[in-house]
Amino acid sequence: MAKEMDWGSLGFEYTPAAYRFVATWRDGKWDEGQLTTDPTVHINECAGVLQYAQACFEGLKAYRTEDGRVVTFRPELNAERMIDSATRLEIPPVPKELFMKGLDELVKANLDMVPPYGSGATLYVRPYVFGSGEVIGVKPADEYTFRMICMPVGPYFKGGAKPVVVKISDFDRAAPKGTGGIKAALNYAMSLYAGTRAHEEGFAENIYLDPATRTKIEEAGGMNVVFITKDGTFVTPKSESILPSVTRRSLEVVAKDMLGMKVEHREVLLSEVPEFAECGLVGTAAVICPVGKINDHGKVIEFPTGMDEMGPGLQKLYDTLTGIQMGRIEGPEGWLHEI
Ligand code: COI
Repeated sequence: MAKEMDWGSLGFEYTPAAYRFVATWRDGKWDEGQLTTDPTVHINECAGVLQYAQACFEGLKAYRTEDGRVVTFRPELNAERMIDSATRLEIPPVPKELFMKGLDELVKANLDMVPPYGSGATLYVRPYVFGSGEVIGVKPADEYTFRMICMPVGPYFKGGAKPVVVKISDFDRAAPKGTGGIKAALNYAMSLYAGTRAHEEGFAENIYLDPATRTKIEEAGGMNVVFITKDGTFVTPKSESILPSVTRRSLEVVAKDMLGMKVEHREVLLSEVPEFAECGLVGTAAVICPVGKINDHGKVIEFPTGMDEMGPGLQKLYDTLTGIQMGRIEGPEGWLHEI
């Protein structure tokens, strides 16, 4: 049963749940991990994460379905992506089995924090792994901590699903052969300065361009960018330095296989964006947030869908995806993992 709580007024904020799952890598192997009630991490002052930001993370959600089950959405993709992220950061990857065991134990232990069906809130699960052993020379740590925490959350952007205004950033998010395609904590630290400047100027987010030519759409500070053309094609930017969003990849399947839309995953030029009918920011945290306007150095691209509501193409995708996640619509086999 969900706790008595004002679920509808939650934002995207940290609220400690009673339990978290913790595992340690030491002497060449991961232990089996366990639940703990201690929200404080105790690490050495020279830990790899503190000195050289050796850390990566994931984000997924647990939902209460219409028929009362508690499910997570495609968690294997998060486990796999965290293996890719860890490998690129010289962190011993957390085995998929340990990730899934931690997830099951964590959500079961905090069932009262899974918001009720229809409340508009969900349980956000944040797995992360970091160098907890000491280093001072630039090298991988010799001990790592995997931690999985969870918290009930509401909409990522304050206005809920209201269209936002974003800007094309002057900063770069990732280098062509850098770490843009993995969920390194550092990628998000790097976005903070540009993000804060954008907020000060009244924008909800930055859209970054490819650093090599500054002509192609990459992604936003914390989510992928997607478009719908005037003839209803779902277009998603392709680049090795874009994080492979679980939401974006799922929407491509929903669009093609369930809604019969044409899907193009390809390089997207900034110069073609004014031709598109709809734009959205997509990710686990944001789900789909419509973009009303993009400010490109004072030149404003206004989407015909306006500033009041999500356009019809994204709305169909949103309804289908969230319908699958909440168990109202049958999705592709294996997409829901029951807790
Ligand atoms: C997510 O969508 O889960 C993310 O990780 C984005 C963000 C809050 C950094």
